Amino acid sequence: MPTPRNPFRPSFGTSPYYLAGRSDLLQHFQLSLLEGPGSPYRTILISGLRGVGKTVLLNEVEDIAHKQGWIILRAYPNQEMIADLVNTTVPQAIATIEQPPQRRLSGGSIPGLGSIKTETHDRAEELRPTPTLITRLRDLSTSIADVGILITLDELQSADLDQLHQLATAVQDLMRDERDIAFVCAGLPRGVDELLQHEGTTFLRRAHRVDLHAVSPEDVRETLDITAKESGVPFTPPALDLATDICRGYPYLIQLVGSLSWAQAALEEAPHIDAAQVEAINQPAIDRMTQQVHRPALSRVPDGELSFLRAMAELMAASGEKSVSTGEIAAALGMKSPNGISTRRSRLITRDLIAPAGFGKVAFTLPYLEEYLLREG
Ligand SMILES: Nc1ncnc2c1ncn2[C@@H]1O[C@H](COP(=O)(O)OP(=O)(O)O)[C@@H](O)[C@H]1O
Ligand SMILES: [Mg+2]
Repeated sequence: MPTPRNPFRPSFGTSPYYLAGRSDLLQHFQLSLLEGPGSPYRTILISGLRGVGKTVLLNEVEDIAHKQGWIILRAYPNQEMIADLVNTTVPQAIATIEQPPQRRLSGGSIPGLGSIKTETHDRAEELRPTPTLITRLRDLSTSIADVGILITLDELQSADLDQLHQLATAVQDLMRDERDIAFVCAGLPRGVDELLQHEGTTFLRRAHRVDLHAVSPEDVRETLDITAKESGVPFTPPALDLATDICRGYPYLIQLVGSLSWAQAALEEAPHIDAAQVEAINQPAIDRMTQQVHRPALSRVPDGELSFLRAMAELMAASGEKSVSTGEIAAALGMKSPNGISTRRSRLITRDLIAPAGFGKVAFTLPYLEEYLLREG
């Protein structure tokens, strides 16, 4: 019997077979497209840590819009963001909608008629205004009549402020004219917060903000259960409990733990996934998490901040608590100046590696980072 395909998708930006815990937002978005201009869900700003499911959610949003016939434009957060939209993305979208022969005939030729020219003004070319994002989007909006335009932007934290401002201005301009347009973007929490502090991002500050966090244990369980069951290789109840615990609510781990457990069962040619198989992949799953998430997240962290993180991990391991006070970390590092420690603390918060946890305490944001720091020491 041929082995069925592994139904889990442990790679970034790849939509899972079953999406946990996002149905409310997607329903709001779907309704907003038919609600008409003015719906607050037509401008959404998604934020969350790496691996929490931002890109996948953007994909879902695009799918919903596409199914309703909307045109999808993807913006990329680089120096050419606007130029790419104006010169390539929007013209391409217009070209795929319109029937080229029925438009401008200038210089074209129709079989049997020879060459024709409809331009009358000699200086027409030179007088034509340079297209801007606003004029381009208006052209597109006019040519699609009954449907709308969705613009998406991932990795928002890397966007250039000036380019972002231009994009926001264009979207607002069309909204003001009651055109059907929606804008959904996603980025890392602190990077996005920093961006929003600058002038010219008022529009984004008013967007409907979605902060993606860990998924509830019930949702994790259901996702693992349904995904495995529908592939024909279900989890046994104890295996499902164990796998749910290992995931700690983190979406990337749902796919990773699911995929490795499923593969282990397939290797043993088992008809279901049992607890021993999940146990066998526990450490490999965490190692993969380290390669894919922890190492990249720590790659540019300077030594002073790394020692803060290590001290934090050691203190937490010693106390068994999930948070620790900055004062204790300072003492462990032998740092007397409150300024030094608070600078490191705030830089690490900005990097989304730690988060305030009340009463002067901090906690790690990523699952298994504490264990990784203890191991790598
Ligand atoms: N809601 C979810 N339910 C189940 N798996 C998810 C969910 N969201 C994301 N995933 C999985 O998590 C991984 C990371 O998702 P991704 O969207 O790339 O994260 P981000 O863009 O936030 O870094 C992917 O393997 C994806 O399939
Ligand atoms: Mg992403």
